[in-house]
Amino acid sequence: MRTAVMGAGSWGSVFAKILAEAGGEVTMWARRETIAEAIRSTGRNPDYFPEAALPRNVTATSDPAAALAGADQVVLAVTSQTLRANLSAWAGLIPADATLISLMKGIELGTTKRMSEVIVETTGVDPRRVAVVTGPNIAPELVVRQPAAAVVACPDLSRATAVQESITTPYFRPYTNDDVIGCELGGAVKNVIALAYGIATSMELGENIKATLITRGLAETTRLGVALGADPLTFAGLSGLGDLVATCCSPLTRNRTFGEHLGRGLSLEQAQAATRYTAEGVKSCLAIRDLAHKHGVEMPITEQVERICHEGVDPKVALVTLMSRQTKP
Ligand code: 13P
Repeated sequence: MRTAVMGAGSWGSVFAKILAEAGGEVTMWARRETIAEAIRSTGRNPDYFPEAALPRNVTATSDPAAALAGADQVVLAVTSQTLRANLSAWAGLIPADATLISLMKGIELGTTKRMSEVIVETTGVDPRRVAVVTGPNIAPELVVRQPAAAVVACPDLSRATAVQESITTPYFRPYTNDDVIGCELGGAVKNVIALAYGIATSMELGENIKATLITRGLAETTRLGVALGADPLTFAGLSGLGDLVATCCSPLTRNRTFGEHLGRGLSLEQAQAATRYTAEGVKSCLAIRDLAHKHGVEMPITEQVERICHEGVDPKVALVTLMSRQTKP
């Protein structure tokens, strides 16, 4: 099994390591040749987890054509808002029957599309060739082989099973699922709820409200999912509750950490300046809010996160709004 991993960021790098440790041949595509060259010559990514040695069956290139040539699987691990531009350039290079695997947990700004929709639209591939890998998979834990489970969602079960086999290791246990909409939505919305959780954490609001954010966050995610055609039970699984709990509760996650900055009173720009990574929820909250409006679904936590991030609303004011909100009978 030959896999191209398009993106040498945090999860892309650890996913490449998992694929290789499961026995596959892996070529990583890095945007910068200096990173690709460092991976080739030292077997380590100097940008992410430089202490982690990549197996010998991982190589790297900055040439997308070289990465994609002969690939059975193409893993898309770029930031959500750059997927369309990147994939448009790569579409003609993707081998005819390769499975396209999304690791991205975001919703596209403007179009409000899920990542698998962007993949199908940009490449013209049959949706049955697109799989999503998601779940509680915090990269800094997996890089040191701490145990985790995941979901491979794909409408074509035989492809889902092939992807599952290609990433099964003693420390990584993937399940299969055919609810692509539910799995993707859980992954995107949990980032927004984790921003709220981070805000509540640094404001020292206590455990009751943090548990409430998780449970009511899951409720609003499920409402949107059902409106989009997802199975509500998906949200009780690894890609829903599982990822939501992991992302909220771990101090290592980008979205929770970003939320903590906002809860300390930093503006969006100051929080961005304080971090070198992308917290996907910051942009996705706008697209998810728009998607919810389009479908007439109430998402009060997402609304308030969007206001804090993009309208300069004070988190204390957002909290009062949430607590005094009229609930429907
Ligand atoms: P962050 O992007 O917030 O680090 O989330 C990690 C994650 O998705 C764990 O499953």
